[in-house]
Amino acid sequence: MDRYVVFGNPIGHSKSPMIHRLFAEQTGQSLDYSTLLAPLDDFSGSATAFFREGRGANVTVPFKEEAYRLANSLTDRAQRAGAVNTLSKLADGSLLGDNTDGAGLVRDLTVNAGFSLTGKRILLLGAGGAVRGALEPLLAEKPASMIIANRTVDKAERLAELFCDLGPVSASGFDWLREPVDVIINATSASLSGDVPPIAASLIEPGKTLCYDMMYGKEPTAFCRWASEQGAGVVMDGLGMLAEQAAEAFFLWRGVRPDTTPVLAELRRQLTE
Ligand code: ATR
Repeated sequence: MDRYVVFGNPIGHSKSPMIHRLFAEQTGQSLDYSTLLAPLDDFSGSATAFFREGRGANVTVPFKEEAYRLANSLTDRAQRAGAVNTLSKLADGSLLGDNTDGAGLVRDLTVNAGFSLTGKRILLLGAGGAVRGALEPLLAEKPASMIIANRTVDKAERLAELFCDLGPVSASGFDWLREPVDVIINATSASLSGDVPPIAASLIEPGKTLCYDMMYGKEPTAFCRWASEQGAGVVMDGLGMLAEQAAEAFFLWRGVRPDTTPVLAELRRQLTE
């Protein structure tokens, strides 16, 4: 049976095996998908051994940059992201690196939420790997503007420079902004510690602005709670992005696009039960 894994460290609580098992059942594909705990100091050895037999892998924290270096070729979006979350063994045995995180985010927004990003003013909070992975797919939707705001402003400035050929990207500090935007995407890890990036409430136009947190949890994240309190038009967490990035990987490996709706419902049920 074709073998797939998700590499990470730690990896025990990954939802990917469950997601891909449901995708395989739904599409009638025969495959085996499990977790693989790679040693922190030898991702490359672990991946090379797996790919003697294995067909494809997802890669999560902290190995996405190493996977980028290991891949023999890269998709444009992985090249731009500087990180790989999906490896696929090609017919000649070489490894193609892709990054489906940003595409997953865009699909969750545009398909699941039915929200067009074209012509919109987008504010991205954070300037780490999560933002870098999202920028190319977001800019491909042709927003009117894209502001990257970060606690450490020079990191946002560097990202804006790296992506400015793809669209109207600029950098900012959190407290420099006042004018309402159409979309706010929280890609900081602030929710992990229950914090909300210190942005002005006036950035949210009540009943209109869509607020998205890439994090998710049993309870609404701190950012989602804050956005709801400000009267945001739509508030979403990152569970849909998780399902959609997996669906993009599944499509790359198997050439079939699974329906994420029942899988996302199952993920939500397990998360909140
Ligand atoms: P990831 O790969 O998930 O993006 P990362 O590269 O470590 O993780 O980036 C974490 C991001 O969250 C950074 O933008 C970080 O801001 P700094 O660049 O200033 O460090 C941001 N971040 C983390 N904790 C935060 C907090 N409590 N408030 C605001 N921003 C925070």
